[in-house]
Amino acid sequence: MNFAAKLIRWQQLHGRHHLPWQNTRDPYAVWLSEIMLQQTQVTTVVPYYLRFLQRYPNIGSLALAPLDEVLALWSGLGYYARGRNLHQAAQWIVSHHDGKFPREVAAIQQLPGIGRSTAAAIAVFAYGEHCAILDGNVKRVFARCFGVDGYPGEKKTETLLWHKAEQLLPKKTQGQIEAYTQALMDLGATVCTRSQPQCAACPLQADCIAFREQRVDQLPTPKPRKPLPQKETVLLLLLQHGEILLEKRPPTGIWGGLWCLPEMPLDENAAAYCARQFGLKVQPLPELPPLDHSFTHFKLRIHPRPLQVISHTPAARQNGAIWLAFEDALGAAIPTPVRKLLLPIHNKGRL
Ligand code: ADE
Ligand code: SF4
Repeated sequence: MNFAAKLIRWQQLHGRHHLPWQNTRDPYAVWLSEIMLQQTQVTTVVPYYLRFLQRYPNIGSLALAPLDEVLALWSGLGYYARGRNLHQAAQWIVSHHDGKFPREVAAIQQLPGIGRSTAAAIAVFAYGEHCAILDGNVKRVFARCFGVDGYPGEKKTETLLWHKAEQLLPKKTQGQIEAYTQALMDLGATVCTRSQPQCAACPLQADCIAFREQRVDQLPTPKPRKPLPQKETVLLLLLQHGEILLEKRPPTGIWGGLWCLPEMPLDENAAAYCARQFGLKVQPLPELPPLDHSFTHFKLRIHPRPLQVISHTPAARQNGAIWLAFEDALGAAIPTPVRKLLLPIHNKGRL
């Protein structure tokens, strides 16, 4: 059995057959259902679909309705541009297609709110045309089944998936384009779901590359994340009699409440900063390489600045700061990068 035949048989046995927009060939009803189903789940759509069809049973009645009334009926479905486009398209059909829903897939795709995949779905369900669909669910099924790497929202990957979708259509002599198309939709919605897909119940399991290579959880490739912004800071390693100065961080912000090496802005002079902040006279020690640390929302490049304390200003107060032996500092609640800076010094017994 080929790909299409397996899906068609699965659809007959396990697919959905009693959705209110199935078993109609009225292009208006099919169109309405496909628009409502674009970003909304079947169970939510059903009552809206039935109410909408009852209120506007055909293109003419929709075209004549005030937009406010249409949107009121859409209220709760979300993505209201869909309702506005539907209304606008109905008026376009009245003025440019004599009130009859277009027969050609190219003309269908010209209507506001209808992209390539939706146009194809309408042409399949209303006219039995052999057109390929490729909505988000189908992209996921294909990306997994054929092991297609690359984010499907990216042009190159999308083109490849469309090519697959066209290739896999059942032969015209095979018929059953409606069952095949519905099978893809139903499989994506009920079996090959985004998380925890039911591969054990999948008719494509024997062909599925993602399943075979245990990459189901890695496909489709997620949207590439923007590189995290990088911040830089200076952490002072103030040394005195084998002890190091730690400061308690404020309770909020990064490292909230932890003991940390004193932080200094990048453009400050370390000696002046230490004198002002801690009443310490310091001398530079040999430099250490920068240390990179990643947070959820940014990366931090830490420039460690080792300094030897020469003397104290008599009245100096080291507010919220303590001198600790390395041993004790490493036993305190300190952030990971501080631990990474302190540990090698402690182990070597020197900088
Ligand atoms: N999602 C998009 N179109 C659909 C349809 N015709 N049936 C079920 N789910 C769908
Ligand atoms: Fe999706 Fe699993 Fe079926 Fe592959 S075997 S198509 S991953 S449900």
